[in-house]
Amino acid sequence: MSLITRLIRPEIRSQTSYYVADASNMVKLDAMENPYALPETLKIQLGAHLAQVALNRYPVPSYLDLKQTICRLFGVPAGYDVMLGNGSDELIAMLSVACAQTGACVMAPIPTFVMYAVSAQLAGLRFVGVPLTAELTLDMPAMLEAIATERPAILYLANPNNPTGSWFEHEQLIVLIEAMRDIGFVVLDEAYQPFAPGSMMAQLPQFAHLIVMRTMSKLGLAGLRLGYMSAAAELLAEIEKVRPPYNINVLSAAAAEFLLPHSALFDQQAATICAQRSWLSTALQELKAVKVFPSQANFVLIKVPNAEQIFKKLLEHKILVKNVGKMHPLLTDCLRVTVGTPEENRLFLETFVSLLSEPLS
Ligand SMILES: Cc1ncc(COP(=O)(O)O)c(C=O)c1O
Repeated sequence: MSLITRLIRPEIRSQTSYYVADASNMVKLDAMENPYALPETLKIQLGAHLAQVALNRYPVPSYLDLKQTICRLFGVPAGYDVMLGNGSDELIAMLSVACAQTGACVMAPIPTFVMYAVSAQLAGLRFVGVPLTAELTLDMPAMLEAIATERPAILYLANPNNPTGSWFEHEQLIVLIEAMRDIGFVVLDEAYQPFAPGSMMAQLPQFAHLIVMRTMSKLGLAGLRLGYMSAAAELLAEIEKVRPPYNINVLSAAAAEFLLPHSALFDQQAATICAQRSWLSTALQELKAVKVFPSQANFVLIKVPNAEQIFKKLLEHKILVKNVGKMHPLLTDCLRVTVGTPEENRLFLETFVSLLSEPLS
């Protein structure tokens, strides 16, 4: 038996590493990024600001200034703090590690963001997925039954959900949060909040077992890798013990501190993206062969016959969307299209329409 076979856990060996498609020279509509670069003047100011950062020093691990800026700008309730992650991916990993007790499980409605299951499995936790309905809404009876029987340590609820774009009404979420009381923690993942009609951040003080998680990624700063979450102090203090002390590097922290006060710019970009989402959804709805799922995120999920073939042909035209058809049976023949700039969206639509009318091979 080789060292690898003997020493690396079988559940790790059986996984594949996270795949990211090569997007060089592509119109990149696959990863829910904000398509807009920073304005030139801001780039220059940012460069000057970053030049002053002491790269020879470790970060100050309390990240006090950055956390205060986040609390002030993003509606974190008074008396509540945030914890920072190297992307919300890292926060999810830390939550899994903190709760990885023998027999514990993690639950989420599926299909949803894959890292909930991946992180759980890497930490040795069982993952239980509860399928959404055919319309990609929450199956409330199934969720309540699964909570009662499985008693998950963590329930993830992404709202809006990825890759479906579904928006779950807060009344429904509150029923699930109530059902989880005395059972486990609820992580409400508001990664797509900049494009959504609401947030539950203000409701944090009502629930000691609720964690609200957000990221700078979809706002326009995916490259910084900066996520945050807020919860009752007692709970955050425990998860904080899992955090690597210097997990946010000095350049990311300094860039975020400099850029976040320019939140009006990001809000304006989010408003443009929402307007483009409506334009793209309406145009796609007019195509008979295509089903468009309602989205409150910065992407649109569509179902189209021969999605696989259309995905490949789009690639030939240098347009990269995400083929999610194999992720879950509810997503068969589905493509997830990130909303880009108006030009990118028009190019995608024109190419997509022309491919729909081509004979199938
Ligand atoms: C629902 C959801 N949560 C979290 C993330 C990860 O965000 P981050 O870039 O902060 O790791 C994503 C990324 O696509 C997501 O869809």
